[in-house]
Amino acid sequence: MGPSALEVEELWAGYNGHVALEAVSFSIEQGCLAGLVGPNGSGKSTLLRTIIGLKRPWRGRITVFGQPPRKSLLGYMPQVEVPDWSLPITVLDVVLMGRYGKLGVLRRPGKADRIKAMEALARVGMADKAGRRIQELSGGEQRRTLLARALAQEAPLLLLDEPFAGLDAPTQHELLHLFQGLRREGCTLLVATHDLSCVATHFDHAVFLNRRVVAFGPLHEVLTEEVLRQTFQRHLLLVREGEIYAEHD
Ligand SMILES: Nc1ncnc2c1ncn2[C@@H]1O[C@H](COP(=O)(O)OP(=O)(O)OP(=O)(O)O)[C@@H](O)[C@H]1O
Ligand SMILES: [Mg+2]
Repeated sequence: MGPSALEVEELWAGYNGHVALEAVSFSIEQGCLAGLVGPNGSGKSTLLRTIIGLKRPWRGRITVFGQPPRKSLLGYMPQVEVPDWSLPITVLDVVLMGRYGKLGVLRRPGKADRIKAMEALARVGMADKAGRRIQELSGGEQRRTLLARALAQEAPLLLLDEPFAGLDAPTQHELLHLFQGLRREGCTLLVATHDLSCVATHFDHAVFLNRRVVAFGPLHEVLTEEVLRQTFQRHLLLVREGEIYAEHD
C-alpha cells in the first residue's frame, strides 16, 4: 500500500492568538470520499486553507502522498472567493486559471488546456455557459464554476469547501454522482460540509472536527451518537438506521 493521500499531524493554527485548530491529527487513505464535518466555526475552512498553504500553521506537519504539499497534488475549491467581478472575465477564463499550475513559466494556456477546462465545465453541467461573463451567473452557477476550476487542476487530492452550499437538490445529487465517479477514477476527496445527512448517506469516510478532531475513519466506525454529541455540542443528534434526527437541547 502506498502512502496516505493526506496526513496531518499535531496541527495548530489560529488567528490573532485565538486557537482555531488544536493538535489536529488524522489521515485519509487514497481513493476515499471523506467528509470534513463540524458546526460553524469548528475550523473546517481553516484546516483546508492550511493544507493548501494559504494559511501558515503555528506548528504541525502536513504530508500529501508522503510529500510536502505541492500545488500539483492539490485541487482546491474555496468556500468564498472575493474576486474582482468587475473584470470582464468569462466562465471559461475562471476555469482556465485552474490550469496555470500545470503551465511552465511564461506559458499561456493553449488548446489542450481549453479542452481540459471545457471537460471540467461539462462535468459540473456548465459547458453551455462557458462564454458567459462570470458576474452574469447565479450563485449556484458561480459555485459550480469554482468547482470546475478545482477539477481542471487534475490533482489527485481534491479539497472542497462547502461545494453543496446554495445548490438545489437535483444539482447536489449530480455533484454527489460526480464525486463518486472521481473516486472511482482514483481521486481522493476531502469535502467540508455541515450537511451530516449527505455525508452519512453518500460518503465512505469522515473527519469530525470541532477545533480538535473528535473522530476520523470509515463512516460505519465513526458515525456514533457520542461522536455527534461531541462534534455538535449544542445539539442532540440521534442516528437510527441511517436516518438522522437533530434536536436542540
Ligand atoms: N480571517 C479570520 N480572522 C480571524 N478569525 C477567523 C478568520 N477566519 C476564521 N476565523 C475564526 O476561526 C474559527 C474557525 O473558522 P473557520 O472558518 O475555519 O470555521 P468553519 O468550520 O469553516 O465554519 P463554517 O461552517 O461557518 O464555514 C472561527 O472561530 C472563526 O471566527
Ligand atoms: Mg468554512
